[in-house]
Amino acid sequence: MSVRRLAKEQPESFTFNAASEKEIAFWLAKYPEARKASAVIPLLWIVQKQEGWVCEPALRAVAERLEMPYIRVYEVVTFYTMFNLAPVGEHLIQVCGTTPCMLRGSDELIKVCKSRIGEAGAISADGKFTWVEVECMGACANAPMFQLANKDGDHYVEDLDAAKLEQVLDDLAAGKSIKYGPQSDRVASEAHGTTVLTDPSLYDGSRAKPIKLPNTGESEAAAPAAKPAPAVKPVSKTKPKPAPKTKAAPAAAAPAAEKAPKTLKKAKGQPDDLKRLSGVGPKLEQTLNELGFFHFAQIAEWGPEEIAWVDSRLKFKGRIEREGWVAQAKALAEGK
Ligand code: FES
Repeated sequence: MSVRRLAKEQPESFTFNAASEKEIAFWLAKYPEARKASAVIPLLWIVQKQEGWVCEPALRAVAERLEMPYIRVYEVVTFYTMFNLAPVGEHLIQVCGTTPCMLRGSDELIKVCKSRIGEAGAISADGKFTWVEVECMGACANAPMFQLANKDGDHYVEDLDAAKLEQVLDDLAAGKSIKYGPQSDRVASEAHGTTVLTDPSLYDGSRAKPIKLPNTGESEAAAPAAKPAPAVKPVSKTKPKPAPKTKAAPAAAAPAAEKAPKTLKKAKGQPDDLKRLSGVGPKLEQTLNELGFFHFAQIAEWGPEEIAWVDSRLKFKGRIEREGWVAQAKALAEGK
């Protein structure tokens, strides 16, 4: 688990140099003025590239430049292990200590770092190395690993053990270039060779057994070659038989005869609230009123012919029977 604190010793002040200002202008152009706080990580990275680490006065400079609270900048810089909170040596060794790397031996790497370099975050006596523990860097398939940050950039060094790390440190101390990526013989994160289904007899056919073919008693190996398929008979020239007669489909049911129900020119006293019938809204109630229906008792008297008459005058056919208006109207007319 990495602990992230600002260094005890800090410079008095911090100023962006001309190269950094150019970089800042590039990044700020990517965000709307009101959202320029989104550039906090790029600006902190610019600080680190300029100074080699992120000092406390730089946090204030970033907060001021982005017009955001100082505490927000502090939160970001102390969360991400890519930011160095104190000066570091020429080669920064960021050892991943998260679970997959730990299970694959990162503790051994940390022991080597302690014995060769010193305590986490300290600069070695020769000024060449600093090591820190960081969280998962997304290279778990190649665990254990560390990230090497130096003037050549940031590179992963993977598939390590204590002896390999010793060798890498020796080479770096001697100014030699090292191999980045896996320190094993594999490429990138390819599998560590085949470990299952390795018996060659699985693939050379020696395990194949003759198969009994159904109903012949012969095995596949002894089975005679398949007979050629019989020639296709020429198409008959006889007249095609007429298609058998089929019964005609029954005629569709004739629509019910219509008969105008009794209508009123206006309601007798207070009209009923026809909206209480299911499926009747204000619009449909208005239509029913215009047709001369104001009371449940009127609707309760409709028979099939009256229903057909009203139905043919409504927009949505079949609603009267589907919703059971007549039965509902009867119940409502009886005060149920
Ligand atoms: Fe170490 Fe993911 S746990 S890289």
